[in-house]
Amino acid sequence: MPATTMDQLVSLCKRRGFIFQNADIYGGLQGVYDFGPLGVELKNNLKAAWWRSMVYERDDVEGLDAAILTHRKVLHYSGHEATFSDPLTDCKRCKQRFRADHIKDGKCPECGSTDLTEPRMFNMMFKTAVGPIEGGDNFAYLRPETAQAIFTQFKNVVDATARKAPFGIAQIGKSFRNEITPRNFIFRVREFEQMELEFFVKPGTDMEWLETWKADRIDWWIDQGLDKEKLHVHKIAKEDLAHYSKATYDLEYQFPHGLEELEGIADRTDYDLGNHTRYQDELEITAHVHENKEAEGKLALFDDEAKKWYVPWVIEPSAGVERGVLAVLTEAYAEETLPNGETRTLLKLKKHLAPVKVAVIPLKRNNAEIVKLAANIKAALMKTGVGRIMLENSGNIGKAYRRHDEIGTPICITIDFESIEKQPASVTIRNRDTMAQQRVAVSDLPAYITDFFR
Ligand code: GLY
Repeated sequence: MPATTMDQLVSLCKRRGFIFQNADIYGGLQGVYDFGPLGVELKNNLKAAWWRSMVYERDDVEGLDAAILTHRKVLHYSGHEATFSDPLTDCKRCKQRFRADHIKDGKCPECGSTDLTEPRMFNMMFKTAVGPIEGGDNFAYLRPETAQAIFTQFKNVVDATARKAPFGIAQIGKSFRNEITPRNFIFRVREFEQMELEFFVKPGTDMEWLETWKADRIDWWIDQGLDKEKLHVHKIAKEDLAHYSKATYDLEYQFPHGLEELEGIADRTDYDLGNHTRYQDELEITAHVHENKEAEGKLALFDDEAKKWYVPWVIEPSAGVERGVLAVLTEAYAEETLPNGETRTLLKLKKHLAPVKVAVIPLKRNNAEIVKLAANIKAALMKTGVGRIMLENSGNIGKAYRRHDEIGTPICITIDFESIEKQPASVTIRNRDTMAQQRVAVSDLPAYITDFFR
């Protein structure tokens, strides 16, 4: 099958209600997207799968949901004020601005001119006024990563949970980056969500944990339906590492626009906890602070064996939710030619990610008895807890199947005349992937659906 194109995805996402341009009616806010009726379900399902695997299935991770507005000092001492910048260049001819590292052959991507300004650094953090008086120091940042609140709340979480290393704190939430050139649909955007784990380990065990998390994260993405062959691990060169990192793997995926980062797995050393520990009291200490007296009672752990305080090191698997959504859509999109020559578009989403799990379709929208049985079946299936069960009363069975293939609904249940006329009552179940149909007794449906989505 030919590779999925971005145009195919953008078109499907708008047509079926997955993703819309933000403020579309006013021409759009660039680099900002809204998730529609199906997009919100898909996104929630992906986040739930991450949370389940990171928090519920493990015994060494706690959750956090911290504020987006971030104290200036946090991002000062995290190094973001000084270093969270991209190189910006202006085209003198067309006056457009670009990321200098995205420019090819020294030519403006818009008009081809080579008359470009020297690159200068542009800080990507958004600021916003806090309180009624604007200006001066009355501002906070919109967080550029969820990670910092995990570091600043480290002591509170440890005090509340009595955790010892190795253990992690997981968080899913919005982050903001004032990208110079947002592009490639929801791949590079200014407002997005991250799924981040900060996993705290004893100094010296970090490289081992980095490898463990790399393998774990690859497996997880494969479980979300991504093809192993389209995933690639890229070890970041020393000179390209983020300011806090000793070693980073980029887990890349073959997106429609190319092989690009889906998730980063970084060894952040004790950079963040160390900095926040040192600078809470404005202590100007430049060396790493593990085994240091300053750590006592701060963002540190007590080593029961060595009987001393130390600042743990951190391994961080950090994934973009929007990039995850784009990857699973890329992978799931398929066009099939049917025996009658027609083309069928479908999303072969993993069952747990599908926005609608089951569509219950009355064959005749005006037949009260059929519609009533459909509503009763929906109510019974809701109790299985497998996810969204939708009563699809559009009255056109062919169109309903096409729509549910396109949005990735794994199971359609059709209620027809036989369902109300013959006892025991039965319905037709249609499988999205095989299009195979089978007759199942209404009384067996809850068990069938529970088993199918197990
Ligand atoms: N926390 C890592 C990142 O946002 O890239």
